Amino acid sequence: MRDVRGDISRLKTLSTIPVVMKRLLETVDDENSSFVELSEIIQHDQSLAERVVAIANAPYFWHSGLVNNLEQAVLLLGYDLVRSIAISISVFELLGRKEAKRMKEFWAHSYEVGLIAGLLCDKVPVTSGGVCFLGGLLHDIGRVVFYALYGPEYKDVMFEESLTERELELFDADHCSAGGWFLESSLFPEEIVFAVRYHHRLEGCDKHKGIAVTVHLAEALSAVIAPRNEADGAWSEEKERLLVKSGLTRADVEHMGSMVRREAPFIESFFEM
Ligand SMILES: [Fe+2]
Ligand SMILES: [Fe+2]
Repeated sequence: MRDVRGDISRLKTLSTIPVVMKRLLETVDDENSSFVELSEIIQHDQSLAERVVAIANAPYFWHSGLVNNLEQAVLLLGYDLVRSIAISISVFELLGRKEAKRMKEFWAHSYEVGLIAGLLCDKVPVTSGGVCFLGGLLHDIGRVVFYALYGPEYKDVMFEESLTERELELFDADHCSAGGWFLESSLFPEEIVFAVRYHHRLEGCDKHKGIAVTVHLAEALSAVIAPRNEADGAWSEEKERLLVKSGLTRADVEHMGSMVRREAPFIESFFEM
């Protein structure tokens, strides 16, 4: 059986990992110098810098005002969030050109879940909307981590219906654990780590439950609002009860649907920047 956790800790040493991503993963949020270093790494890659700024303007960050450049993004959103955004984008790129079509669909699924998680957080505040958005955006990051580590074996499993079962058979770990380990070892905010780790099994979550419930619900709602093959969540009665318990109505769900449709052109063109 694979040592998934060990392989994840060695992920950044893989020759297939882009240099920018390696450098981003090596930055640590404990010194003033890392603030400058982070901007420097991102600036170095023009398209990454543009994408970070584009994401910083997602609806959940709007309260901070319109972001025009990277310095503003760092200033308004803070080191942690900008670093998380930059790493997220480079992780999605791991799916690369070979899987371009799938990457697009997978990105769309992830972005939609992020968007919905942020909107849910507007209704039932559990943490900042930006953190909820990132939790949603990254919820399935474990799938990309598996792809990066075990591409040939995983690439056909990655979009299968009984995904978590197949992953457990293959690796004795699913994408929830893999995503959690990856984000933890990459020093992501703890709330995001928990939301990702428990997005398919809330019952195990004993901390940061609010954001975990939000991402869990957002993933299931995305299956109703924007059904896709790449989505791995499904609506159920249990989730309907959770929705009602959270005080949300059908009108709220419709509003989320219209927001998702409004963002569609942005989602589509994101990797063409
Ligand atoms: Fe998932
Ligand atoms: Fe998902």
